Formats: sequence, structure tokens, C-alpha cells
Amino acid sequence: MKILIKSGRVIDPANKIDSIMDILVEDNKISKIARNIKLEADKIIVAENKMVLPGLVDMHVHLREPGREDKETICSGTQAALRGGVTSLLAMPNTTPAVDSIGHLKILQEAIKKGSKANVFICAAITQDRRGEEVNDLASLKKEGVVAISDDGASVDSDAVMLEAFRRSKEEKLLVICHSEDKQLSRQGVVNLGFTSTRLGLRGISAESEYKRVARDITLAKETGASVHIAHVSCQESVEIISRAKKGGIKVTCETAPHYFTFNEAEVLGYDTNFKMNPPLRSKEDMLAIRKALSNGTIDVIASDHAPHTENEKDIEFERAECGVVGLETELAASITELVSNNLFNWEGLIRAMSLNPSRILGISKGTLSAGADADIIVVDPEKAWVARKEDFLSKSQNSPFLGRSLKGCVEYTLCQGKVHKWNS
Ligand code: DOR
Ligand code: ZN
Repeated sequence: MKILIKSGRVIDPANKIDSIMDILVEDNKISKIARNIKLEADKIIVAENKMVLPGLVDMHVHLREPGREDKETICSGTQAALRGGVTSLLAMPNTTPAVDSIGHLKILQEAIKKGSKANVFICAAITQDRRGEEVNDLASLKKEGVVAISDDGASVDSDAVMLEAFRRSKEEKLLVICHSEDKQLSRQGVVNLGFTSTRLGLRGISAESEYKRVARDITLAKETGASVHIAHVSCQESVEIISRAKKGGIKVTCETAPHYFTFNEAEVLGYDTNFKMNPPLRSKEDMLAIRKALSNGTIDVIASDHAPHTENEKDIEFERAECGVVGLETELAASITELVSNNLFNWEGLIRAMSLNPSRILGISKGTLSAGADADIIVVDPEKAWVARKEDFLSKSQNSPFLGRSLKGCVEYTLCQGKVHKWNS
């Protein structure tokens, strides 16, 4: 099967490409990328005035299977991913059971084989049942194919356990992804500690609970020489600590999510639980600091932290609602709307943050349009505006903070390993 994508603006930062080109896909691989490919093809996609980009790589996704298939399944989550332009994702291990043993890993791998529509990479838990007490058998997990470890949803409180985890991950060359939160300081808060928590009389989560743990995690990574990736950075102080560490040569990378550069804590004043997540939306100054850190490269990655929850778990009192928001289907458009349209990023920067950098950080061969690479490609109309609506989501859950918002940038085609998905919009 030959597919020819014609006359689109091709962006491929790995190969320093930003120009009008054609891409030929043969047998699920990119076989040629050049100007004016003259060739018979089984399918032609005319991409004039469209962006042709490497499929996105989202390194923070909660697929919920096994255990909470009422929120999401591997099938529905990967379909939502493709719809949003995400061809590869890292599945987080806070499932039931957690991905903390070879047995549990095998169950997940089997389910992925059966249900997945996209490329799913696996993040295993750092500790048994994510309790922060005993480090898992990292050597075996790595051998069986996991690409990173994280107790995401929680932080490993014990310095000694985390030190041990870093030591062993260094030996196994496994990336440690840190959900950096000191629970003693966040004290079961539900919103940012600041004017919103005071005004609403809700328990606040301090920025300190995040950045002190970021500092701890980076110190331990430095001591052991392990690679650390800080998940969902939400506040200015975390950015400053990470920036200093990078300048000091420590192997640290980090990510943020579209909600942290689009919204701030003021959104919570309406008690809409689609603005409740952990870490919480912070102050306007924090939001601006996150934007700046993206544009100057301190923040390496945009990931969705796609965290589906059912309506029953969200449509209740703010304090009792679950933390987290869906994001796979809106992350690209939200990033185009907030970052590219506001000149904080050009297209190359966007693709670095959403495809190339996460691939490099995870050590997976994705994120480029090189000849020979898997045909993971998206065709995007950069100007087309659309409104995020519940009924259009392919995810099983609709807990999105972008509902009702007009977003710019629409995925028209997703090719995943050469399989073409055309989206009606
Ligand atoms: O808001 C969040 N939701 N933050 C996390 O760290 C976990 C996630 C979830 O799994 O729902
Ligand atoms: Zn987390």
C-alpha cells in the first residue's frame, strides 16, 4: 500500500525540515520525503495549506485499564489519542492493580495487544502498589519492556526509598518520572493556596508542596546520576529550581500540561470541577511563568495528563470530586491556540515539545519524519477553529476544562503505523 501526502508544510525538527514537501508512505513506514514526488499511489492526501507533522508523543496518559474501564479503556483512550493527533503515548501505572510486577505488566501488555489503536508505551510503578515503601523489581520490568517508572498520583515520601529507586533506575537506565508533591504540605487541599482558597473557604495546596519535592527529587537524581523527569510542573518556583539544575548539568527534564498555561486559579471561582486537578491551577503569575519556561526551553515537554473520570465522580461538591481532566483530544489545539497563535512557540518549538523531546526523553524511536521511520504522521489545518463539545469526544469521559471553548487547529488525518484515520470536523 502506497500513500502519498502531497504539498503540505512539513515540520520535522529532528531533520531541520520546515518546507512544502511530499511524503511517501510504503508498508507502514515513511519511504521518502522530498519535493514533488511523482509516483502512482494507492491513496493521495492533498495537504495544501495544511501542516504535516510527526504524530504527537504524549508521555503522561491515564488509560485506566485494568480496573476502571468505566472511566476509559485502552481502546477508547487510544482512539481519543488518535483523534487528538497523538500516535504514541506513555500509559501511567496507577491502575488497579498497579503496574508493579511482571504479572501485572503481562496483563496490561495483553490488554494493549487486544485493544490498542495507537502506540502504547508502559510506565511501571516505582514501588509496590505505589505505596512508597518497597522498590519494585526494576531490572525485570525493564527487561520486559517498560520505558520509565513513576508512582504518579503520589510521590514517594521516604528519601531513603527514593534514593534506592534512583540508584536502581540508574543501573537499569530507566527514567524516573516524579509526581512531586509533599502530602504533609498539600494537606488534602483541593485548590491552590491563595486568593481562591481563601475566597471559597476551600483547603489550599501550597506551591511549596510541589517545589520542595521537586528540589528533593532533583537532589537525589544528582546524587545518583539517574535521569529524572518532573511531571506536570505548575508553579514558578519549580521552574526556577529546574532551570538552575539544568544549568548545573543535572540530568533533569520536565513537562507541563495545557491547562497550566491556559488557565489560572480564577477559573475555580465558579466551582466547576473540570478545573480541579492535582497539582491545581495556580496563580496568574505562575501561569505566565509556565508560558515563559516553555518558550525558553526550560520546560521540555507538553503532555496532557489525560485523567478521565466519570460524571458521577465529577458532578458533585468540589471537595469530593476526583482530581484530573481529560486532555488527549484538545492538547494540540489548545497549544496552537495559546502558544503558536500568541508567538510563544513557532511550529518547530511546538513539535519539539509535543513529539521530538518526549521521544528522546523516553528513548523511543518516534517523533521524526525520517525515511525509514514508522509512518506516524498527522495532517493539521492550522487555521480551522472548532469548539470542544462533550458529545464529540471519543474518550469515555468528558471532564475537560476546555468544554465550550473555541480552539484553533484541527487534526484532519492521523496516520498511525501507516493506518489512515480521517476525521470529520
Ligand atoms: O489530577 C490528577 N489526576 N493528578 C494526578 O496526579 C493523578 C491523576 C489521576 O490519575 O486521576
Ligand atoms: Zn501526577
